[in-house]
Amino acid sequence: MGKVAVIMGSASDLSVMQEAIDILQSFEIEVSIDIVSAHRTPEKMVAFAKEAHLKDIKVIIAGAGGAAHLPGMVASISPLPVIGVPVKSRNSIDGWDSVLSILQMPAGVPVATVALDGAKNAGILATQILACSDGVLLEKLIAFKEALKAKVEESARSLKP
Ligand code: RP5
Repeated sequence: MGKVAVIMGSASDLSVMQEAIDILQSFEIEVSIDIVSAHRTPEKMVAFAKEAHLKDIKVIIAGAGGAAHLPGMVASISPLPVIGVPVKSRNSIDGWDSVLSILQMPAGVPVATVALDGAKNAGILATQILACSDGVLLEKLIAFKEALKAKVEESARSLKP
């Protein structure tokens, strides 16, 4: 099945990025976690991006806030799919800086950008990518979607007098 790497620019991103880790682990996917800063540890970022695909990592989730260059820079080097999580960090003006820094990539270097602080969806999307070649994981995702539906239907029923 392979692993998903969850990296983030700072320890201060962990409270947001934990949601990606939690959902991946709920699908029994092996996760590697690290702090890799595009600005403070650029050499580490380059080494990570050059080597990730050699370490059984299949998808990279990268979260950062403010001038959020980590997802895009990793995507510029790695052949793996990169999912970017814009974080509303303390140095972010209003979150838009994080969103646009990750979203507006040039042609040829895609980053699949989720919503502001949308780490849970990043984890689900990474699971869906892995499930393209894993039938067991695909069945788990079908059950996950059914559970979402059942929850809404239950809420709707509870509204009825
Ligand atoms: C970004 O700056 C990090 O990803 C984090 O979201 C933000 C603030 O970092 P700290 O100053 O909290 O370390 O590079």
